[in-house]
Amino acid sequence: MEGSRVRTLAEDRVLVTGGAGFIGSHLCERLLALSKDVLCVDNFYTGTRTNVSHLLREPHFELMRHDVTFPLYVEVDRIYNLACPASPIHYQFDPVQTTKTSVHGAINMLGLAKRLKATILQASTSEVYGDPKTHPQREDYWGNVNPIGPRSCYDEGKRCAETLFFDYYRQHRLAIKVARIFNTYGPRMHPNDGRVVSNFIVQALKGTDITVYGDGSQTRSFCYVSDLVEALVRLMDTSSEFTGPINLGNPKEFTILELAETIVRMTASRSKIVFKPLPTDDPVQRQPDISLARREFAWEPKVPLDEGLRETIDYFKRTLQ
Ligand SMILES: NC(=O)c1ccc[n+]([C@@H]2O[C@H](COP(=O)([O-])OP(=O)(O)OC[C@H]3O[C@@H](n4cnc5c(N)ncnc54)[C@H](O)[C@@H]3O)[C@@H](O)[C@H]2O)c1
Repeated sequence: MEGSRVRTLAEDRVLVTGGAGFIGSHLCERLLALSKDVLCVDNFYTGTRTNVSHLLREPHFELMRHDVTFPLYVEVDRIYNLACPASPIHYQFDPVQTTKTSVHGAINMLGLAKRLKATILQASTSEVYGDPKTHPQREDYWGNVNPIGPRSCYDEGKRCAETLFFDYYRQHRLAIKVARIFNTYGPRMHPNDGRVVSNFIVQALKGTDITVYGDGSQTRSFCYVSDLVEALVRLMDTSSEFTGPINLGNPKEFTILELAETIVRMTASRSKIVFKPLPTDDPVQRQPDISLARREFAWEPKVPLDEGLRETIDYFKRTLQ
């Protein structure tokens, strides 16, 4: 009895790096709802205090300003490592810092996990597949990544972080979980980060032209943030032998043009859809194969695109006023 109480307590202190960001803030909320003690660490590069201001009065929530490229000494039982700018505009603004955040950040958080014998989860990305030659992408696909392009700081940084996670697992028997996250959207996305969902919604609400790169026939799959957070929590709870990498995303594909048209309809916007050339290394198709997540922890996304977009549009209507 005593032993099981100690064990329950021992799994309760959770560190979320990048916790004041878009996904991180929803994860902090969810962990608090699960009665965890949450330590949110962020340097506010792309995240904001506002994203977590509603949590500051929670007795089990703590916010710490810290840059993960520097060592961190805290006592926790589990670590979700989300710290890293995620949109091309932000990660290309200071590419050296992006690689440092991915690589040094991973080294620092893995070192902390090793010292504490804590389970650590890495927010990796579908970008490790680069411009994929197979569809949909399965976890055993090694990717097709340009190592020297403008996106490489992020793609290769995340690939190197995965390498470090698996070396800590093999060399130090550390309990690791590697999640390859595909396009996720929802409230608290950064309004100016150039990501397609937030871009289109902001443009539609402001009545400015909606910019589609290429002819809009490239496809993406969009996962609503609550579905993604549910998957991260379930992944953390898998047995210590389960490491991933595991794809987390919504396998339902939409073309970029369909997305633009849906958003124009839902916002009753007068915006015109205009076409511009595709940026370098922009993949033409991106779709997760989520059979592993279905098998391992019976997960699949539940929120339909219309419903998720409605929540996101409402959020941007409130914040853009
Ligand atoms: N949103 C997506 O579609 C998506 C897709 C794939 C992977 N991911 C990964 O999920 C994680 C969260 O992404 P997000 O969409 O919430 O992005 P975000 O930019 O909103 O969140 C990242 C957070 O990390 C913080 N951060 C950045 N550098 C830091 C540093 N050096 N030290 C401490 N904090 C730092 C930022 O301030 C921000 O709060 C990222 O690691 C990202 O690569 C996201």
